[in-house]
Amino acid sequence: MATIIDGKAVAAKVKAEAAQEVQALAAQGVVPGLAVVIVGSDPASRIYVNNKKKACQEVGIHSEEYALSGETSQQELLALVEKLNADPNIHGILVQSPLPAGLDEAGVVETIAPHKDVDAFHAYNVGKIMRGRYTFLPCTPAGVIELIRSTGVEIAGKRCVVIGRSDIVGKPMAMLLLHQNGTVTICHSKTQNLPEICREADILVSAVGRAAFVTGDMVKPGAVVIDVGMNRDKNGKLCGDVVFEEVAEKAAYITPVPGGVGPMTIAMLMKNTVAAARLSLEKAGDSHG
Ligand code: GUN
Repeated sequence: MATIIDGKAVAAKVKAEAAQEVQALAAQGVVPGLAVVIVGSDPASRIYVNNKKKACQEVGIHSEEYALSGETSQQELLALVEKLNADPNIHGILVQSPLPAGLDEAGVVETIAPHKDVDAFHAYNVGKIMRGRYTFLPCTPAGVIELIRSTGVEIAGKRCVVIGRSDIVGKPMAMLLLHQNGTVTICHSKTQNLPEICREADILVSAVGRAAFVTGDMVKPGAVVIDVGMNRDKNGKLCGDVVFEEVAEKAAYITPVPGGVGPMTIAMLMKNTVAAARLSLEKAGDSHG
């Protein structure tokens, strides 16, 4: 039976470190500030945004929410992002994804000043991730790396399989595992023999977004299984991509949903916001001296 990785406990440590850094910044007269923009009324986004605001409170980060109607135009949204780019009290800007149909998400992300892009979605930060020289770590993939680290299992030299190739999770996840010297395969909807490839994984990360996608027969005995999925099952209950009971029989370590990756994404966002505030202080120092 697998050991369950406690995402809440690992996240609490990351948040405690961020809170300490907030104290250190306060002593230098800076309160880290995060602006969270939400457009429309997607219920899942509402929950995520509330959780992000709650984490800010816990850590001591000033947060501002901008809840815009689903009718907001691209121009209005870009104007808000520009305003936040220029606001010295805001160090991090996050526009909750997905945006309502008709809005150009990439256009919005590219308008965020790269030094305030705490999601690390801007092409400049994505490029830095490719190079392995980070200003901001992508929150969910960085959280997954911390969870794997917490098991004590070494990534270097291991077969790592990532299921899913999204810009938010799959692609940056593969890159971070590669930087840890994993041997990485990305699987997706067109992959042939997907179960066979998954069975080779020492570390299996699923970011598909489909309940019951990863079954016991797809998992190598003794593997580390990380479930990034956030889905609803037939009864409307929150669940991941992995059939938990079945896979827990075979894996050495497994993350639950909820209580696995989710809290880590938010903890890493706190870490990035504090890093952005630190960066602003260093920049101010540079310009004065
Ligand atoms: N939607 C789902 N995950 C995320 C995230 O990490 N950041 C943003 N901005 N939107 C999301």
